[in-house]
Amino acid sequence: MPRLTGVKKINIAVFLSGTGSNFKNLIKYSLKKNSKFKIRLAVSNKSNSKGLDYADKYKIDKKIINYLNIKDSEINILNVLKKNKIDVICLAGFMKILTSNFIKRFKGKIINIHPSLLPKYKGLNTHQRVIDNNEMFSGCTVHYVNSKLDSGKIILQKKVKVLKTDTSDKLAKRVLKQEHLLYLKALEKVLTNL
Ligand code: GRF
Repeated sequence: MPRLTGVKKINIAVFLSGTGSNFKNLIKYSLKKNSKFKIRLAVSNKSNSKGLDYADKYKIDKKIINYLNIKDSEINILNVLKKNKIDVICLAGFMKILTSNFIKRFKGKIINIHPSLLPKYKGLNTHQRVIDNNEMFSGCTVHYVNSKLDSGKIILQKKVKVLKTDTSDKLAKRVLKQEHLLYLKALEKVLTNL
């Protein structure tokens, strides 16, 4: 295995609003010797996001944005990104929609994970809707972010079988496990093509 010691790592910011299990998973991977990236910053619109505890635990800078005004908030975020020399943004349960103006500034460098097989089941409440529609499969998708919700170019997907006994919570748990693996694979692919 070639060692990346001394090679400049790609700086990543993770945007989140909730539990942060994807965030934690990305951090853990980034600490491996051969990882191409470093998580430099966590951005959240909620000061009480549980995920921010991981920023504290792993000594990652965090920025909380109140989002009272989108334009000001995004200017604020862009400044912090610049200050931290961020190359790529990973959205992981971030509950705000970025404006096309913001996205333009990081063209092709913002990715998101969504817990469904896009283009099916965009938006919220995916698992319950999948179960209600008696789908045989659900899954997760990592995609580039464009200005339409959950609609950017797909990078990778992973299928998960829906079981007869599934509740929304049970399905969410199994999908989340796959999300953690998929996000790393997709990020690797994105970084290779930068
Ligand atoms: C994940 O299911 C992700 O696909 C969705 O929001 C959830 C975030 O989970 N966008 P976590 O905060 O990473 O645990």
